[in-house]
Amino acid sequence: MTFLREELEQLESEHLLRSLRRHHECPGREIEIGGIQVLNFSSNNYLGLAGHQALANGAQLALAAGAGSTASRLVTGNLDLHEELEEKLAAFHHLSAARLFGSGYQANLGLLSCLANADDLVISDALNHASIIDGIRLSKATCRVSEHCSLDSVRSHLEGSEGFRRRFVVTDSIFSMDGDSPDLVGLRALCDEFGAFLIVDEAHASGCLGAGAGLCAELGVVPDALSGGLGKAFGSYGGYVAGSTDLVNVLLNRARSFVFSTALPPAVLGAGLAALEIVSGSVGSKLRAALDARIAQLRAGLQELGKLEPGAGESAIFPFVVGDPVATVDLCERLLSDGLFCQAIRPPTVAVGTSRLRIALSALHREEDVARLLESLAGT
Ligand SMILES: Cc1ncc(COP(=O)(O)O)c(C=O)c1O
Repeated sequence: MTFLREELEQLESEHLLRSLRRHHECPGREIEIGGIQVLNFSSNNYLGLAGHQALANGAQLALAAGAGSTASRLVTGNLDLHEELEEKLAAFHHLSAARLFGSGYQANLGLLSCLANADDLVISDALNHASIIDGIRLSKATCRVSEHCSLDSVRSHLEGSEGFRRRFVVTDSIFSMDGDSPDLVGLRALCDEFGAFLIVDEAHASGCLGAGAGLCAELGVVPDALSGGLGKAFGSYGGYVAGSTDLVNVLLNRARSFVFSTALPPAVLGAGLAALEIVSGSVGSKLRAALDARIAQLRAGLQELGKLEPGAGESAIFPFVVGDPVATVDLCERLLSDGLFCQAIRPPTVAVGTSRLRIALSALHREEDVARLLESLAGT
């Protein structure tokens, strides 16, 4: 299969070839790269829970139920732990029910592909996550891409949509590479006006915003379906969809990424349950306050440098846009030599000409860490 080598060479010639960095343990405030410890500004470990002892204890206790779940939930894989976590996730999001999936990617894939079909229209924000895009493709629905965070664009797509059986509007609540958010209140109102359904992916907001329950909860918006993940602020692994009882029962019957995939194993569920307890309690509030302080510090610092991107600054994700992929990788390497790791993000993850460093803050960061980062970025 020589075409594979050609493909890799093509990527290399475009400076888009990716490779893996290898670590001995899950990174926390610091990460080991090339044998040295540097500050880690690249994880989605927003509350620092991935390395929290309570999650390790939760995982260890759950191991008493076995190492693997043995099959799909519909065969022999359904454990008390799955049902307990689903009930708690639903209550946490102030929704009726929740359905766990193997990952956030599988949750979006299952949700979109199962809700819509060839008679339907899905209006999807231009910067929605790949898992949403793939779910829409699998559904065979017509997809119209709305301009990023533009209510006018969503409205114009809804206005021209009479021929469709059902209309769905889908958006991330925090965009993973830009850190900005859509006008969810406006989207809910538009969906109500046109009889469309609103689907919101809270992957980067769950745990962080709305006292942890996400941006919808913060704004008092009730989506028709909400997806989320346990691998980011929750520090564990897995994904879920929350909404009505009918919704999760349809997913149980028809979402192929649920039906035809082995259930999450006990240790992951135990860690997820421990994380949910922390996120919902007073420790979670303290961690969010620590994260918010760092967000405010970086927002002010980038603003001063003239590098705060429009819409960014309210979440833990800050894009530092460079443009050219080679210059972005060079900047990433220069920061590494200053003891700072901010992952370079290039096409196809972001649009051509918008290569960037994706800076992700965590409650683990200290004031002096963000000050060091700003000092280093000031020299660019
Ligand atoms: C917005 C968004 N949705 C879904 C996912 C997928 O979640 P997971 O990593 O749990 O598969 C991600 C992240 O990777 C994401 O950024």
